[in-house]
Amino acid sequence: RPRVLSGIQPTAGSFHLGNYLGAVRQWVALQESHDAFYMVVDLHAITVPQDPAELRANTRLAVAQLLAAGLDPERCTLFVQSHVPEHAQLGWIMNCLTGFGEASRMTQFKDKSAKQGADRATVGLFTYPVLQVADILLYQADQVPVGEDQRQHIELTRDLAERFNGRYGQTFTVPAPYILKETGKIFDLQDPAVKMSKSASTPKGLVNLLDDPKATAKKVRSAVTDTDTVIRFDPEKKPGVSNLLGIYSTLTGTAVADLEQKYEGQGYGALKTDLAEVMVEFVTPFRTRTQEYLDDPETLDSLLAKGAEKARAVAAETLAQTYDRMGLLPAK
Ligand code: TYM
Repeated sequence: RPRVLSGIQPTAGSFHLGNYLGAVRQWVALQESHDAFYMVVDLHAITVPQDPAELRANTRLAVAQLLAAGLDPERCTLFVQSHVPEHAQLGWIMNCLTGFGEASRMTQFKDKSAKQGADRATVGLFTYPVLQVADILLYQADQVPVGEDQRQHIELTRDLAERFNGRYGQTFTVPAPYILKETGKIFDLQDPAVKMSKSASTPKGLVNLLDDPKATAKKVRSAVTDTDTVIRFDPEKKPGVSNLLGIYSTLTGTAVADLEQKYEGQGYGALKTDLAEVMVEFVTPFRTRTQEYLDDPETLDSLLAKGAEKARAVAAETLAQTYDRMGLLPAK
């Protein structure tokens, strides 16, 4: 079985629809066909300031949401990044292989540090993508299921894997991104020119999966579309409508062409009302299941302990091989 690996940050509150459709949904599907490793990346989260109690709670909350979304610890290895110390260790090695200019070209860093101000941005934020490289290479992943915004980080991973292999001999699998065309980039409901994200300019454009379903329905019904009335999938000319069609299609398993036909001659109102309903049907059980997992933190923690043990077995082997190839003297 080919191997996949991916990660998600333990954000405050809840995952959003972009996280789910862009990544987590694929994780759930891939655990059936692949040897799958999925983690909550708490070490990445601390590249910006975090309140300790909140970080701990958000890490459990992230795990609960992943389980609610359908990850099954019997079918995949689910763990918390900081439980596997090899991530930080290989991260250092990768830092020593990455050019300063190369890291400086990472667009997510440029965006995030511009928002925070250059003085507030940490060195950790700067080397964030390099830790991500280590995450992926530790597991010899063949594919990495992510959203479009992570493509550049996977490119960096490929470059560093090839560089290391070229210099020290075949050590790492060179991974490919696994990004779906239809859902690789979910857009903000109020501004379909930008991707949906926690840092949206207005909360009305952001669908948090754990929000009150009524509030979510309202956001969908007031989504920004355009001034003509034709329901047609055309991301260039009709980004708002196309975003809604893409979300609708994925959540219901209906082809976009069928949706276009279904709504032919009807206004945007009908499409939005129906999609609002589809969304409510999706988020309502998701919320309930998440809460059930959260209510039982002991089970959650013991499942994470097993996940970390499975992950470590793989990660430790790769790290040992890496140290050896580079000539680090083994401890007797
Ligand atoms: P994070 O936590 O920001 O996001 C988790 C996943 O959600 C995807 N995503 C989206 N997809 C479609 N449309 C959107 N609007 C949207 N917003 C977010 C992201 O692409 C991501 O797949 N750096 C990673 C975490 C990470 C990782 C890794 C991923 C750390 N190590 C190793 C893969 C492999 C991140 O920030 O994800």
